[in-house]
Amino acid sequence: MKPGSALSRHFLQFKDLRSEELNYLFDRARIIKARFKNYERYQPLVDRTLAMIFEKASTRTRVSFEAGMYQMGGSVVHLTTGDSQLGRAEPVEDSARVISRMVDIVMIRTYEQAKLEAFAAHSRVPVINGLTNEYHPCQILADIFTFIEHRGSIAGKVVAWVGDGNNMANTWLQAAEAMGFTVHVSTPSGYEVDAAVAGISNKACYKVFNHPMEACAGAHLVTTDVWTSMGYEAQNEERRKAFVDWCVDDEMMAVAQPDALFMHCLPAHRGEEVTGDVIDGPQSVVWDEAENRMHVQKALMEYLLLGRIG
Ligand code: CP
Ligand code: NVA
Repeated sequence: MKPGSALSRHFLQFKDLRSEELNYLFDRARIIKARFKNYERYQPLVDRTLAMIFEKASTRTRVSFEAGMYQMGGSVVHLTTGDSQLGRAEPVEDSARVISRMVDIVMIRTYEQAKLEAFAAHSRVPVINGLTNEYHPCQILADIFTFIEHRGSIAGKVVAWVGDGNNMANTWLQAAEAMGFTVHVSTPSGYEVDAAVAGISNKACYKVFNHPMEACAGAHLVTTDVWTSMGYEAQNEERRKAFVDWCVDDEMMAVAQPDALFMHCLPAHRGEEVTGDVIDGPQSVVWDEAENRMHVQKALMEYLLLGRIG
């Protein structure tokens, strides 16, 4: 299959999928996960190849895409900046033209969203965002699927975001707009979310709180992320000081709903953005969340390559 780029659907931001498509994906992920758990072979992507391009480190994204593609009968090519011509300044547009003539789908983890967009604009095949400075849409697919598994629909619920106004926070805002829930955001001063960068048009989908306890009050889900994202390591020391009060702890969980869940995209730093008691405690669903990356991404690749099944 070598379609022209005009025919390819990409997943570059969460809002690239409409709400009915998101619900379809969550249904498919549930079915695909059940088959996996039953050791049932499901190989709709035989002879299809996924290229994965990593310009930043990864554990979950690499393993979930690679294992998922093999399980569906396909194969995988793994590229990094250091071992490809991307690291020697070959234009991203040229890389996209070449790679997309040889594979069926591409996943990219990189820095600027603009670079991902440039690749997609010159790709003949679907392109998936595996994390950029601005967004992490596959992670939020997994997070919402995990919420649905544990608690049912997320519509009308409150998600507390505690920490950096980063790629994860931006993507939560897009998801809130698409799926009808509210994000209560608390960040240190200077690290706020920006609606324009988040790419939302409806500011009613989030509320800002100065203190993380206020953001957590009554929340159905409390979530956080590292204080320093990949690419921002030079700011590590100043961030350590600024974020010291943005550590999700038992007190924050205590003011949330009694059955509130805790999520973290991982990797986590116990004692920084979350205490060990919370992340290893009974309300934490971080391991389900990590596993579900694979199931939702299998549903996503199936959808982008084959369309709706049945
Ligand atoms: N959550 C996540 O994307 O993890 P990795 O950086 O390990 O891929
Ligand atoms: N915000 C983090 C997420 C890591 C999965 C980062 O971008 O490094």
